[in-house]
Amino acid sequence: MTFRSILAAGLGVSLALPGAVQAREFRLGLITPPVHVWNQEVAALSETLQEVSDGRLSIVAFPSGQLGPESDMLQQLQTGALDMAWLTTAELTFRVPDLAALHAPFLVDNIADAARVLRSDEARVILEGLPRATGTVGLCYALTGMRQMLTRSPIASAADLSGKRIRITPAPPISDFFQMFGAAPAPMALPAIYDALANAQIDGLDMDYESIINFRYYEHAPHLLETNHHMFGMVALVSARVWATLDEGDRALIAEATQQHCDRTIDRFVEEEAGKLDRLREAEGIVITEGVGPEFFGDIVERWDAVWGERTPYVARLRALVAEF
Ligand code: BEZ
Repeated sequence: MTFRSILAAGLGVSLALPGAVQAREFRLGLITPPVHVWNQEVAALSETLQEVSDGRLSIVAFPSGQLGPESDMLQQLQTGALDMAWLTTAELTFRVPDLAALHAPFLVDNIADAARVLRSDEARVILEGLPRATGTVGLCYALTGMRQMLTRSPIASAADLSGKRIRITPAPPISDFFQMFGAAPAPMALPAIYDALANAQIDGLDMDYESIINFRYYEHAPHLLETNHHMFGMVALVSARVWATLDEGDRALIAEATQQHCDRTIDRFVEEEAGKLDRLREAEGIVITEGVGPEFFGDIVERWDAVWGERTPYVARLRALVAEF
């Protein structure tokens, strides 16, 4: 051991020689399993980073909630114990209520318009609040599709959902939506859902096509309402503490490479959404009710906006933006 390495170990810091090239492998957490598009794009992001940094910068992913639920990952980012994470906008609404506007019910009715919202300046500016509220830097948005409802029993009207325990991603704006039409929202992390369905602890779930297919939830909840009732966003995050240790050049490399893979993720979801519904149409036992719109839930949009419009100006801003599409 050299004097420098002993000193570095003792201080818990790395002592780069002036001009020396420092390799960094960033630890990135996600709740999704390796088969998910996000995980595929994180693997591709690591390759892109290696290419643009001559092999110096790379990423090792911790999938499937190996580091805990998203709330734990957010804490780890805040302390700097975790370098990066791709987290749902839903999780971030606990600390950044402005992001709830992205979960406004029926804000858009198709995934192409969801992509336009996520790429808008109006949405982008919300990310500026993340360092103060979460101790993270939000580099870009992506998504995992539009959300649908999948239930164990047939649903012909909103009244049939009354009292049903519907699994949701833990998030106040989503919980409010389900409560407002009389369902019993059951917040639960993604990896716990399949067993909860198999054991009949829940009557249904709020989910996107990607995960409905990946996890085969329809085996226990074969009734699909095609509602597109909200978009389900993601933010690519870097710990603000880790960000502060990087020089300008590396920040630019990471920001550009991550943006490239956020864009690719959005494009893939937009391109593949219709094909995923087609695949589900062919799945054994599934019964699909297509084209369920906001009217199915009565005046839910007005009631939800009345509550959340008080908490964030972005509800009105994003509704106005979409009215221009
Ligand atoms: C969920 O909690 O439903 C979820 C989280 C990440 C990706 C897909 C779904």
